[in-house]
Amino acid sequence: MTLPSPVALGAPLPTPIRSPDMLARLATRRSAPAQALVDPGPDAGEIQTLLTLAARTPDHGKLTPWRFVVLGRQSRAGIAEQLAAMAVQKGLPAKAVAILAKLTAAPTSVLVISTAAPASKPVWEQELSAGAVCMNLEHAAAALGFASSWITDWYSYDAEACALFGVRDGERVAGFIHIGTAVEPVLERERPDVTALTTILP
Ligand SMILES: Cc1cc2nc3c(=O)[nH]c(=O)nc-3n(C[C@H](O)[C@H](O)[C@H](O)COP(=O)(O)O)c2cc1C
Repeated sequence: MTLPSPVALGAPLPTPIRSPDMLARLATRRSAPAQALVDPGPDAGEIQTLLTLAARTPDHGKLTPWRFVVLGRQSRAGIAEQLAAMAVQKGLPAKAVAILAKLTAAPTSVLVISTAAPASKPVWEQELSAGAVCMNLEHAAAALGFASSWITDWYSYDAEACALFGVRDGERVAGFIHIGTAVEPVLERERPDVTALTTILP
């Protein structure tokens, strides 16, 4: 599937049009369990497309306060082995090792790293932008026909573990977006009562 031709810098972009496909996607969006993601996953060209689309994210001050690490199966398997040893050495519960299955299963994983730092815009806004990148990545994956799952787990909050993925001092994991094909349809889950969460002012 090819993307629309790029629009020249400063040229007008298409105005939004009603899109039943996009509405259906938004109305039925669900994560797949990360450990149930199998082949096929995105190929190299599709990964490039996914990252290009994910990077079209609101970013106050154009700071680009995030970056990507694309993790193939081989790198994740090696890191998971080291994480398993680390979990034992740190005395973490057995579950900390078991959930590494979420890290290794999918054909492709994209680590979205927040590089937020004090700058012209608040750090909070920069971190929100990294979260939006994750969500755009999931939507882009769905548009290419893939299922995905946004995972953090314990190793996203452990500096020693983060270093194994190339996360640098001062950076934070926004999420691992695992991408592939769901082994079976994902089931609907309860959704919040939007009315109860909403205040409408005249
Ligand atoms: C920042 C963030 C981190 C998350 N980390 C995990 C995680 O470590 N493990 C997990 O099972 N789900 C995690 N989730 C939740 C799933 O990605 C998913 O959103 C959740 O299962 C709800 O399903 P839904 O996306 O289909 O609504 C995380 C979600 C977010 C936004």
